[in-house]
Amino acid sequence: EPATVLADVTVTITAGPTREALDPVRFISNHSSGKMGYALAQAALFLGAKVNLISGPVAIAPPSGAEVFAVESAIQMRDTALKLASESDIFIGCAAVADYRVAQVAEQKIKKQGDEMNITMVKNPDIIAEVAALTKHRPYTVGFAAETQNVDQYAQGKLKNKNLDMICANDVSRQGLGFNADNNALTLFWPDESLELPVADKQALAMSVLMEIIKRLDY
Ligand code: C5P
Repeated sequence: EPATVLADVTVTITAGPTREALDPVRFISNHSSGKMGYALAQAALFLGAKVNLISGPVAIAPPSGAEVFAVESAIQMRDTALKLASESDIFIGCAAVADYRVAQVAEQKIKKQGDEMNITMVKNPDIIAEVAALTKHRPYTVGFAAETQNVDQYAQGKLKNKNLDMICANDVSRQGLGFNADNNALTLFWPDESLELPVADKQALAMSVLMEIIKRLDY
């Protein structure tokens, strides 16, 4: 019997890294595997939701039933996210979005030059902050924060500054957890409470995260 707790609920999830092109053959990116975002998509589908998965380039297969929007750059991810956000009930930003992009993407392959080279970069839009700033049809907005120190303090700062409803913080300095790993441990924060989810596989954590969202959703 399929679960229906999220029937008629649309969940949009960003996942994976973004790629910021330097020229036609090179890019700047990060080690995000997409595993946590894909696990959230899987859990939301299991609970009966309609799932939009906006994904940067990853090596894993999307859960069947998700509508996948494959993107590369932060700008593409932002454009897709803003199109889908206002028709979503829940928006979860799990992507590791590059903070900066190259100011001028070269049209031709950059040639080898002297012993040093400099690249000027400009700040990318904050996708989840733009979603959380929607005034019409704003979804319940959930962020992630990967930190290596002062985890709670930084996470609570992001919850407030980005105007999120909830943030899931993980300490990526802990061995075998976070980026690329199969396991993770999260601390969830809301404006006036918090909850520790101890080490578990990302599938189990994804289900716990969704359950905490569901409790706070006004249908
Ligand atoms: O500020 P920081 O990058 O640590 O915030 C992490 C959260 O913000 C994640 O939910 C991430 O997906 C989101 N984010 C975003 N757009 C950016 C940077 C981060 O949506 N440009």
